[in-house]
Amino acid sequence: MNLNTLQPKVTEILNQSNLSVEHRLSEVCDLLQKQIPHYDWVGFYFKNGDKNELKLSSYAGEPTDHTIIPFGKGICGQVAVSNQNFVVDDVTAQDNYIACSIHVKSEIVVPLFVNGENIGQIDIDSHTKNGFNEKDERFLEFVNTEVAKIWE
Ligand code: SME
Repeated sequence: MNLNTLQPKVTEILNQSNLSVEHRLSEVCDLLQKQIPHYDWVGFYFKNGDKNELKLSSYAGEPTDHTIIPFGKGICGQVAVSNQNFVVDDVTAQDNYIACSIHVKSEIVVPLFVNGENIGQIDIDSHTKNGFNEKDERFLEFVNTEVAKIWE
């Protein structure tokens, strides 16, 4: 799977300014989850108002109980405070991890910056160990940069 071939489609989806942000993000989640074999769950979390917690927005894949995640908790909550990409090769090796499904083996979370501020993140789960590498990081940074343009 060449991730770069999906870039124009991501941009096209996000440019549909007649649709709500949630709808556009939902289409992006569906695209990634359907087209990339190792992306089993794809979702966007955003800072919940002025609370130090993340709230789940659009996603594709199985529903999760973890719609609210406090800053610092789990992989997502750690990225909310570190502002850094987090690639987890093997989720069983993580102490500070929130399990969404017993099938998940690896995970990647990439923060989403608007005008330099970390306002949320894209989170991908894979049922394959060592599912993610630098190519996924660069691709998901591209996706988040495109999403940020909605507000910039
Ligand atoms: N595993 C994440 C929680 C979100 S679910 O993957 C959808 C975490 O540890 O923060």
